[in-house]
Amino acid sequence: MTTARTSDLWWKNAVVYCLDVETFLDWDGDGVGDIRGLTERIDYLAGIGVSCIWLMPFQPSPNRDDGYDITDYYGVDHRLGSLGDFVTLIRTAKDRGIRVIVDLVVNHTSDRHPWFREARSSPDNRFRDFYVWRDRPTRTQKASIVFPDAEDSIWAWDDKSEQFYLHHFYSHQPDLNIGNQQVRDEIAKVAGFWLELGVDGFRVDAVPFLIDTSEVPDVDLDPHEILKHLRSFISRRRGDGLLLGEVNLHPEQLIDFFGGEDADEVQLLFNFPLMEATWLSLARQDAGPIAEALRQTIEVSIDCQYANFLRNHDELTLDKLSEDERLEVFDAFGPEEDMQVFGRGLRRRLPSMFDGDDRRIRMAYSLMFSLPGTPVLFYGEEIGMGENLAIDGRMSVRTPMQWSDEENGGFSKARPSRLRRPVVEGRFGPLAVNVAAQRRDPESLLSWMERLIRRRRETPELGWGTWDVVKTNVSSVFAHRCDWEGRTVVAAHNLGEQPCVVRLQLGDVPKDGRLDDLLDDRGATALSDDGTLELKMDGYGFRWFRITTSEQHTPP
Ligand code: GLC
Repeated sequence: MTTARTSDLWWKNAVVYCLDVETFLDWDGDGVGDIRGLTERIDYLAGIGVSCIWLMPFQPSPNRDDGYDITDYYGVDHRLGSLGDFVTLIRTAKDRGIRVIVDLVVNHTSDRHPWFREARSSPDNRFRDFYVWRDRPTRTQKASIVFPDAEDSIWAWDDKSEQFYLHHFYSHQPDLNIGNQQVRDEIAKVAGFWLELGVDGFRVDAVPFLIDTSEVPDVDLDPHEILKHLRSFISRRRGDGLLLGEVNLHPEQLIDFFGGEDADEVQLLFNFPLMEATWLSLARQDAGPIAEALRQTIEVSIDCQYANFLRNHDELTLDKLSEDERLEVFDAFGPEEDMQVFGRGLRRRLPSMFDGDDRRIRMAYSLMFSLPGTPVLFYGEEIGMGENLAIDGRMSVRTPMQWSDEENGGFSKARPSRLRRPVVEGRFGPLAVNVAAQRRDPESLLSWMERLIRRRRETPELGWGTWDVVKTNVSSVFAHRCDWEGRTVVAAHNLGEQPCVVRLQLGDVPKDGRLDDLLDDRGATALSDDGTLELKMDGYGFRWFRITTSEQHTPP
């Protein structure tokens, strides 16, 4: 499956795994995960078949936003290790065929970053223009405040220099002034530094905010030019360097961040609209919303792709749904106030939202992995970890990885009170949910997930192909097809708990087409000449097929 073309655009058929070093494995016993611990677990990740790791921020930080508030772009937080440890990590990952991308958090710094300390020391300091200052704040649109629980304006008063400064996120995260060429040069230098240390690219934090110049006085700069320059810099330094953008916008806006037909901005973008519609479909047990969202997903240039996910390290945001739709999802998956956050999202992990129903959990991941694009997992999803609602806000899902049923879930040898964050307790805690037990059980979620990842990697049609929603006669069944280089993959997912017999109208299929079951072999299923496929589906059942002609090889 790996032609020169498919391997160069590696992100189109990758399986990405996001983790925070701090909560993965504590090697030195101080209660905080570290790079050494992660390095020891690279073989675990290679074993489950992950092809790219995305590291959440690990740079020095006062940790007021879990590391998304950086004080030194060129370092490693001393609790997590050293730059030397980092290089060893990259080297080990590469040896096992795993790429590493890192968060690039340059919309803002921590207010303790030396640039900001200098900037606020006096209005004529040479770093003053690294940030955005005003005598009087502009009016804040409610929608532009990202953390409405803590902030009511995007401007904060600085006592020291007696002006307001811009911050779209927390007030301790002053926005960098992207209108300033020196700032843009610094950002390129930071990216260049990590590329030189061997990373394969970046998950770019908060992209629409990063390139927004609307609050910067006297700037005449097309925001997308900023992104184009960053991309061309990265491509000069490293041809296959990836930018994976966090852009939570509507489909027609998303497409601009790829650079439209020129494809000269980011190569991968999280498909937030499809993710939100998927949750609405899961809540309603009805294929309507996801089918509609997939129809609205705009096909992109060959270099680019969407990244799919069900959960990440933040709240499960439902900001694009209508108020009523959001309430439907809240009712189904997070009815208690404590499970909700910012009035727009849920601070839960997927298995607990499904009340531990294994059939439904597997169906949801099979669905996510089959969607056109690149699947992204958040650590612990492969074993079905739950959240700890006793931890504040979004941090409820960032608990220590559960390796075994030992104390602290095998994450650390430190006293529980010293852990960076407490482990999950109860039904989804380490006694019931852990790697060690699941890897010994061929029926476990982990063993199943390994098979799913393997199959996804062997199915490049999903990452490379064109896609279509397939008509069915059962409203709870979502089906779609992906076509690439003369082959077709069809996936059907029953979002409902009732078993059914469903007819898929595939449309065009090869006359002598042969159908291979890609997930499990449930006996031959016939494909009729008019492109209709009749399937028996269990409640929350799912099937993937490949249609091949007699000249093509069939999958193993
Ligand atoms: C992004 C991150 C989030 C962080 C914010 C500010 O949205 O995903 O975790 O708090 O940016 O950097």
